[in-house]
Amino acid sequence: MKSELNGKTILLGVSGGIAAYKTPELVRLLKKAGASVQVFMTEPAKQFVTPVTLGTVSENPVLSDVFPGNREGSWTVHIHQARRAALFIVAPATANTLAKLAHGHADNMLTTTYLALPPEVPVLIVPAMDTDMFVHPATQANLEILRGRGHVILPPDDGPLASGLSGPGRMPEPAKIAETAAGILKSEPKILAGKRVLISAGPTREPIDPVRFISNYSSGKMGFALAETAARLGAEVTLVSGPVHLSDPAGLRVIRVESALEMQKALESEFPRTDLLIMAAAVADYRVETVAGSKIKKEDSGNLELKLVKNPDILAGLGKKKKHQTLVGFALETDRIVENATRKLKEKNLDAIVLNRANEPGAGFETDTNIVKILFPDGTVTEFSKMLKKDLAGQILSVCSRVMEHNHV
Ligand code: C5P
Repeated sequence: MKSELNGKTILLGVSGGIAAYKTPELVRLLKKAGASVQVFMTEPAKQFVTPVTLGTVSENPVLSDVFPGNREGSWTVHIHQARRAALFIVAPATANTLAKLAHGHADNMLTTTYLALPPEVPVLIVPAMDTDMFVHPATQANLEILRGRGHVILPPDDGPLASGLSGPGRMPEPAKIAETAAGILKSEPKILAGKRVLISAGPTREPIDPVRFISNYSSGKMGFALAETAARLGAEVTLVSGPVHLSDPAGLRVIRVESALEMQKALESEFPRTDLLIMAAAVADYRVETVAGSKIKKEDSGNLELKLVKNPDILAGLGKKKKHQTLVGFALETDRIVENATRKLKEKNLDAIVLNRANEPGAGFETDTNIVKILFPDGTVTEFSKMLKKDLAGQILSVCSRVMEHNHV
């Protein structure tokens, strides 16, 4: 069977730890699987393995200097290299290099090339260092930043270390690194190529006065996972999000809104050029009828009565306007769950509704996992076991892609 690495260009960054002595073997394995390999070394890495060795096994001169002499065009080499990459591997990644990558330093060829990578290039980081350095909160915080950026961190093995101590910190064997690299490059079929996908996420905030609002506990994690995954599956994605603590995912358009009325306006203007709408937002059902222009003072009255008026049902409104679009809603129910979700599916003219329970551990708001069922208008139900919202996003989108195909035959 052909390896996923075959014909791919891999950039391998080697930083200065003792495990660097294993990198010629890694290069050999990547080359054997059909990849072409360009090695980048930091200066300290040269204390542990020579550029001649890595240049010879990779059949490419090793790059270390951002300004190598006065060679013509040499000052843009990092850009050209970054644009050719199918995968960027850093092995071993020392604590110092991890810190630089996490914080965007560009002080050598390895870190500069990392910063020049196009957003779609996957990154595999293989930390290797002494246990105390690895478990240090600074290193762990840097790893968290890199993980949050979507990079794959291959955890170090536990065992004897060069210092004579023993613990987590050993670089995994080259075969394991090459296998992980092949797994990352396994191409997902772009099942949403050419499709325009509109996704809503997060809560809405309904103002009471300039400093107070009514909202709910939605974290936006499910909607963001759907948007990121849809983009990875080839869709052109617009994400309309209420206020959440998540940063804009790369490679898609994000429209930030506050209230239900703002969300409605954004979604209605995007809807005509949408093929698939997934409404994962927890839209507030009510808003305050009259928003106070200045802060309501508690001295002004005894109890405070707010008159709440119903917000428009955005999804039901779009369900009425639907032409070629496929519409998928979410329902968070606590009781008579299937019955309530089935009613919403019909009333809102949806093609599917994703149902999750609010009162089940590992499901609903703020968690990283979810447990859902998907209900269809013909009464069929697909059930999923508890899984990460990120993985569930892929499952939901593959269901959506089948529904879209079915809608257009
Ligand atoms: O709140 P409800 O259970 O009716 O939500 C079901 C679906 O309708 C969800 O997809 C939600 O995003 C959407 N919805 C909406 N506008 C509202 C309330 C809910 O679009 N005002």
